[in-house]
Amino acid sequence: MDMIVDASIFLGKFLYYFLESFAYKIIPKRKKNVTGEIVLITGAGSGLGRLLAIHFASLGAILVLWDINQEGNMETCRLAKEKGAVKVFAYTCDCSNRQEVYRVADQVRKEVGDVTILINNAGVVTGKLLLDTPDHMVERSFLVNAISHFWTYKAFLPAMIKANHGHLVCISSIAGLAGISRLSDYSASKFAAFGFAESLFIELSMLKKSEVKTTIVCPYFIKTGMFEGCTTKHPFLLPLLEQEYVAKTIVNAILEEQVYVIIPKLLYFALILKQIISPKMMIALGEYLGVDTCMDFFKGREQANELQTEIQRKHQ
Ligand SMILES: NC(=O)c1ccc[n+]([C@@H]2O[C@H](COP(=O)([O-])OP(=O)(O)OC[C@H]3O[C@@H](n4cnc5c(N)ncnc54)[C@H](O)[C@@H]3O)[C@@H](O)[C@H]2O)c1
Repeated sequence: MDMIVDASIFLGKFLYYFLESFAYKIIPKRKKNVTGEIVLITGAGSGLGRLLAIHFASLGAILVLWDINQEGNMETCRLAKEKGAVKVFAYTCDCSNRQEVYRVADQVRKEVGDVTILINNAGVVTGKLLLDTPDHMVERSFLVNAISHFWTYKAFLPAMIKANHGHLVCISSIAGLAGISRLSDYSASKFAAFGFAESLFIELSMLKKSEVKTTIVCPYFIKTGMFEGCTTKHPFLLPLLEQEYVAKTIVNAILEEQVYVIIPKLLYFALILKQIISPKMMIALGEYLGVDTCMDFFKGREQANELQTEIQRKHQ
């Protein structure tokens, strides 16, 4: 009898949530108001982080900007103020350093208050074949792209749970859902970031903290400079993404409290295909899309890499 009741409840919920998600495909979700919310963005000193800061500034949020690059972060601070942000707080913080994250987090709590929207965006890429990748760069990728997320969650999640209010945003990557040549450390760290954020999403729903939301973002290559030199074979089918488009899509997803965001949408289809086709078919598809050669002319943000390496050495 219990089994029948259990199965009926499950099927009822399944059908209800299916219809709900279907309805949201037709009727856009109501967007939440972020005026007065305290939004912390890591890696705010350039690219996507900077654009997200500018968007949240125009939505009336209080901004907390973290970056290892003080100059870039101050420039974002200036641009956010120009966009109307009244309260912007910039902190130099190396997210890969646990003690530094906890120290700066304490400072934020004292000087600004409890963070209510946490955007784990800081990221680095090596872009080399595994056997050409120095060990310290593998470690750096994991520290910045994944392990730092443990420290920021541990610092800011308790207040969100207590208030049953908050939003955790993980900027992963399409490389966090599919492996790509010359991106072994990056891809593995982005898989880790995805797995971490998804596990916490489940953990929070088990704790019945339904008002602490999660958004996990997986974009294809974006023209921010991080993947400078990276190419696409079919720009019509799979273009390198414009950073403004990606930033707008992410802000919209946060406001609509979407959990998973893959950009562009075409890649949802490729990822489903990946689960059902043979590995040889997958490699043929990758070759057709040019994913196998997209990193051949990769240059990346060399300056950022040098700064990172220098700081990493200082900590050793
Ligand atoms: N650019 C792309 O093609 C692409 C694609 C998918 C996902 N992403 C992800 O989006 C995020 C933003 O990338 P972006 O394209 O804006 O790159 P970006 O290089 O412009 O920005 C990354 C920022 O992170 C900061 N940063 C690096 N190490 C740090 C550290 N230890 N502590 C604090 N800050 C640190 C850098 O100083 C920089 O300001 C990253 O997580 C990246 O992996 C980027």
